[in-house]
Amino acid sequence: MTPPILPDVAQRDPVRMAVVGLGYWGPNLVRNLHEITGAEVLWACDARPGALEKIGRRYPAVGQTSDFSRVLNDPDVEAVAIATPVSSHFGLAMAALEAGKHVFVEKPLASSTTEALELIAAAERLDRVLMPGHTFLYSPPVNMIREMIDAGELGEIYFISASRVNLGLHQRDVSVAWDLGPHDFSILRYWLGETPTHATALSRGCVMPNTPDVAFINLEFPSGTIAHLELSWLAPTKLRRTTIVGSQKMVLYDDTSGSEPVRVFDSGVMLKDPATFGEYQLTYRTGDIVSPRLDIAEPLALEMTDFCEAVREGTTPRSSRELGLEVVRMIEAVDASLDNGHRVELAPAVSALV
Ligand SMILES: NC(=O)c1ccc[n+]([C@@H]2O[C@H](COP(=O)([O-])OP(=O)(O)OC[C@H]3O[C@@H](n4cnc5c(N)ncnc54)[C@H](O)[C@@H]3O)[C@@H](O)[C@H]2O)c1
Repeated sequence: MTPPILPDVAQRDPVRMAVVGLGYWGPNLVRNLHEITGAEVLWACDARPGALEKIGRRYPAVGQTSDFSRVLNDPDVEAVAIATPVSSHFGLAMAALEAGKHVFVEKPLASSTTEALELIAAAERLDRVLMPGHTFLYSPPVNMIREMIDAGELGEIYFISASRVNLGLHQRDVSVAWDLGPHDFSILRYWLGETPTHATALSRGCVMPNTPDVAFINLEFPSGTIAHLELSWLAPTKLRRTTIVGSQKMVLYDDTSGSEPVRVFDSGVMLKDPATFGEYQLTYRTGDIVSPRLDIAEPLALEMTDFCEAVREGTTPRSSRELGLEVVRMIEAVDASLDNGHRVELAPAVSALV
């Protein structure tokens, strides 16, 4: 059973925070940190004055600065949440850790395995929380599916296929695999509890020649489960659709369906032992379709609460730094396959994961 994140923070001091990067995603962090009782936002920091003005109008009590060192030098700031482009994660996160701050950094944790390992080593050495922002680990549908998988309700997981496509948003500094891939890689790691052994990928930069905006990725897991991901910034409609096919049941997870994001199909095929060689008996089963009731909770508020809990109580966040490292390793394997056109082998997980 997935442990609930219960914000029992009323009796504790709120974690005093700064949010760095107020483009598309950062304002969502500010809003959620503002709404939970476990945090207090002292600073909003962005290199663009326009981004600061917007936040200032909404949260006049929050300090504004375009100078990151001002945040680092403020002894009242205990933790920093980073929502800047991927290429800047390592530098900003390392500077914050070295300044003695706890760090929440948006997905992906860093832009290479080497960088991710360096950040983890620094967090360990300096005894600071380092948490990557894998928001889907806090999504009620994702957690319900994990519980079904853990309980064996779906049987053996044969395969998973996912489409995460939309028109945009093209990123300047990373490919679609680095931008959208972390969502599916973190979900798969969380559901299956294992890192793939192999990755094979195909992609194309359709609009900008050096920035792949569509990727088809195949993953093979130690348990035998295989997965196919379609990631794209070029699509006529938004799709967030994942199919999980198990030996007992099948699940359709559609994150764009407001009312029924998870549907469980009591469907499958039974292969009876052939009575004589070459004789197969298949029985198809199409039973009930159930749409389970889900908790209504904003994943980002749960994620921020988990971070504050880690800072105050020393707990390991569900979106752990080790999971963040595994996600980076998976994307690197995808890049390696794109470079050499081959099926790329991944080394086993570097450290024990939850
Ligand atoms: N968890 C999620 O679901 C989710 C969703 C979208 C984006 N993200 C992540 O959030 C991060 C930001 O993405 P975005 O789409 O908001 O990017 P963005 O380009 O819209 O915004 C980035 C902001 O950071 C600012 N910035 C850059 N370098 C800075 C620095 N050194 N100091 C201060 N400010 C700086 C820029 O001025 C800009 O306003 C990325 O890591 C992305 O992967 C996560």
